[in-house]
Amino acid sequence: MMSNTVMNSRPLRPRRSVLYVPAANEKAVAKSETLACDAVIYDLEDAVAPAAKDEARERLRDHFKAYRNSPHERIIRINALSSEFGPEDFLAARACKPDALLIPKVDVPRDIGDVADMLAETDAADTIRLWAMMETPKAILNAAKIAEWGETPGSRLDCLVIGANDLAKDLRLPGPGRAELMPLMMELIVAARAFGLDIIDAVFNAFRDEEGFAAECAQAAAMGFDGKTLIHPMQIEGANAAFGVSAEREAIAAAIVAAFDRPENRDAGVIGLDGRMVERLHLEEARRTLALVALQRGG
Ligand code: COA
Ligand code: MG
Repeated sequence: MMSNTVMNSRPLRPRRSVLYVPAANEKAVAKSETLACDAVIYDLEDAVAPAAKDEARERLRDHFKAYRNSPHERIIRINALSSEFGPEDFLAARACKPDALLIPKVDVPRDIGDVADMLAETDAADTIRLWAMMETPKAILNAAKIAEWGETPGSRLDCLVIGANDLAKDLRLPGPGRAELMPLMMELIVAARAFGLDIIDAVFNAFRDEEGFAAECAQAAAMGFDGKTLIHPMQIEGANAAFGVSAEREAIAAAIVAAFDRPENRDAGVIGLDGRMVERLHLEEARRTLALVALQRGG
């Protein structure tokens, strides 16, 4: 049977392209529903100037009322609860009933736990999940604890998102490029995978540089990221292509599933397929790949 769920019963969702939309930008918010990205992060945090916070919250309330159903997974990024704007952002975002809230600048598990506790007090409790921005030096030091905390009953944690701009700033990396961030990002990927979380790569700032963007997507896909956060609609197609399951990978996955389904292989731990060794451990990943393809086609 093809399973539609992964570890910890977290639903499998395609997250190839995850577009930030500044909540204060009326045109961008309206446009978001028409775009072919897998997920949208409506931002109340850094993309919204302090003077525009009220208007941005109001816009999101109206937007979610007008579009009760969306083709995308919808996430709202709030300011940290401990910050000036956090509590009001939380109330506004919760009222929208998005699929998830994205918590910025997570340093320790408690930063997510506080939001989970507040969600648990309301009716929306059953549906709203949590995503965490990994963008501070402390998040790197505490990555394993933060990801492991996602296994706590009621944690709601589904996904980590890398914030490379903040991280580079806090580490005082002069740039350009992100070679110095690579080992840290691999550490975050290990933490996510150890505890069954998805993990999404950082944004690529130069949104008109298609070649540079494609190269960074290819690198991130090779590292095992589930997708990339995006800042502009013109980045969606490239991310969907880079993080989507290729026809070749789909064919290989289908062949593996078919091979283990043959009566003579039912109990085999390892088989030969087209001149390659395939172990039963590859079967689980093949099934996951096919389930992802079905979701990508459906959505
Ligand atoms: N989401 C939805 N629509 C967007 C968009 C986004 N992130 N970015 C641009 N658009 C829309 C514009 O509204 C414009 O729509 P129109 O054709 O109806 O006029 C169209 O795409 C073309 O935009 P363009 O003129 O090329 O870009 P811009 O100069 O207006 O905006 C940015 C450039 C970077 C300011 C803008 O893309 C943006 O705000 N991105 C998100 C930033 C963000 O959220 N940062 C926080 C997380 S890192
Ligand atoms: Mg940030």
